[in-house]
Amino acid sequence: MNALTGTLDPLTIDPTADSDEPPVVRLNAVTKRFGVTAALDGVSLSIRRGEILGLIGRSGAGKSTLIRCLNGLERPDSGEVEVDGRSIVGLGERELQPLRRRIGMIFQHFNLLSAKTVADNIALPLKIEGQKRAARVARVAELLDLVGLADKGGAYPAQLSGGQKQRVGIARALAARPALLLSDEATSALDPETTDSILSLLKDINRALDLTILLITHEMGAVRAIADRVAVLDDGRIVEQGPVWRVFATPRAATTRSLLRAFQPSLPAALVARLVPGRGRRTVLKVVVVGDQAREPLLAELALAVGARASLLHGGVDTVQGRAVGALFLELDGRNETSFAAALEFLRQRASEVEALGHVVDDD
Ligand SMILES: Nc1ncnc2c1ncn2[C@@H]1O[C@H](COP(=O)(O)OP(=O)(O)OP(=O)(O)O)[C@@H](O)[C@H]1O
Ligand SMILES: [Mg+2]
Repeated sequence: MNALTGTLDPLTIDPTADSDEPPVVRLNAVTKRFGVTAALDGVSLSIRRGEILGLIGRSGAGKSTLIRCLNGLERPDSGEVEVDGRSIVGLGERELQPLRRRIGMIFQHFNLLSAKTVADNIALPLKIEGQKRAARVARVAELLDLVGLADKGGAYPAQLSGGQKQRVGIARALAARPALLLSDEATSALDPETTDSILSLLKDINRALDLTILLITHEMGAVRAIADRVAVLDDGRIVEQGPVWRVFATPRAATTRSLLRAFQPSLPAALVARLVPGRGRRTVLKVVVVGDQAREPLLAELALAVGARASLLHGGVDTVQGRAVGALFLELDGRNETSFAAALEFLRQRASEVEALGHVVDDD
């Protein structure tokens, strides 16, 4: 049994199954076609209250279409969409209005009204809701404080930096106390430092308000920084989903591996260049260790248990979601089939993933 996932197929695990509370978002077998293109092809996905779900996928994978199905801007051809416990597929435009107020949204280009002050931009959803002026003013002051812009209420968007504009976007999105925040590439137009500050603001708000967030991004670092779970869309299908630490440590689907390539520990290029397929005297293994596994004296135990001496070529341990996640590149004598198999079996018991990468041909 795989110690990380049990015997369950990660694609069929419903993370909300053991909770009494209905998920904030539930998609069941949602399909949406544009002509011959299936933008969404049987997508099932749940997000529980207070969770940040990162949704990743290549351009054209269907991420924005999924968001548009959630706020009722697109109607799925088939399948169910529930937001905050309500099915929205059959709703008319008028019935969708109150539901849309339960959903806040932030965008790459902020979408602020340039002729209105920061305070008026933030107050807009409250005005639409019909709130009295005094209540609006009080709520806007609260929101400005929350996003760290207490002194900017009277400024116009053009007078703000990109990061400040996105803070206004976040304040506006939260004004009507939504159950769900949708973020479509909200940090893509920002520099790395500003991105970090917006991500930590989102995480703080998530914690403080128990706000559910769907984070769509091309920046894998953003998912790694703040998401709890990640789902991977490819050609309209969810090809993988799981806790961020698990998916980053041991991505399974080819698309995930490719998207997370920059985050995968790898051998130095000079060694890769000398690798040839198969086993040999200097066989190279990649061993992924997670959590407590990363604290074990693995090489010493390997030597004790099966008498195999492996040397460490390269590797390190990182922290994802507070969990140790490491990859070790080992060199092991692969000439004797029986002892090599025993060593491999030992490592498979002690690690999350073991992969034989090939062997290095001796220089001499
Ligand atoms: N209104 C539309 N009419 C026709 N085709 C559409 C429409 N909206 C989306 N599509 C198609 O559906 C597929 C998914 O598009 P979508 O915008 O959801 O992708 P995405 O994952 O958000 O991409 P990106 O990362 O570039 O934003 C694409 O093939 C796209 O061309
Ligand atoms: Mg998109």
